[in-house]
Amino acid sequence: MSEQTSVGSGGLAMRRAAIALIVFVVLTGLLFWLDPENLYLWAKAVHVIAVIAWMAGMLYLPRLFVYHSEVEVGSEQSETFKVMEQRLLRAIINPAMMVTWVFGLWLAWKGFGFQGGWLHAKIALVVAMSGMHGYLAGSVRRFAEDRNEKSTRHWRVMNEVPTLLMIAIVILVIVKPF
Ligand code: HEM
Repeated sequence: MSEQTSVGSGGLAMRRAAIALIVFVVLTGLLFWLDPENLYLWAKAVHVIAVIAWMAGMLYLPRLFVYHSEVEVGSEQSETFKVMEQRLLRAIINPAMMVTWVFGLWLAWKGFGFQGGWLHAKIALVVAMSGMHGYLAGSVRRFAEDRNEKSTRHWRVMNEVPTLLMIAIVILVIVKPF
């Protein structure tokens, strides 16, 4: 697959992601308008849906890197992985992260006035998750330019980081231990 095709499909994925975001925002606005009494619950539902999409991508992308780092640079498989990684990042992971943050911050303000040890700890861990997001996004670019220098073992270890962060975040927000 040529680089041009991969760039073209990346642009298409971005357009689709932008359209999906707009549709999402319009639908959410409609729900808020139809059922204003349950605004908080609707926002929480949207937040959790976005979290699921973000986490699905964050758990799958390093797994793709594990497979990608095992194949030969320039091979057909390597080119296919590039397209899969770029589409996953642009069409799912990036927009899902934005929606998670926007609705999460709104919930934190509306429901808790940004108070609570569990909330501060949760936000700190979500910042760490976003840092991991940035690292993975940079790695998509490095793989696309055939510049990955990390081993398969490195990606296997990296694959566990979002999982551990996610477990801690979910316990903090549901149990609210402090
Ligand atoms: C800056 C980002 C985030 C902020 C400020 C934030 C904040 C919040 C707040 C205030 C709630 C409502 C809690 C309640 O009503 O009891 C909530 C719900 C929730 N959040 Fe987040 N969140 C963020 C990101 C995340 C992430 C990354 C995850 C998962 C990995 C996550 C998982 C959840 C879950 C599962 C709920 C539902 C909890 C429940 O209803 O008991 N959040 N979030």
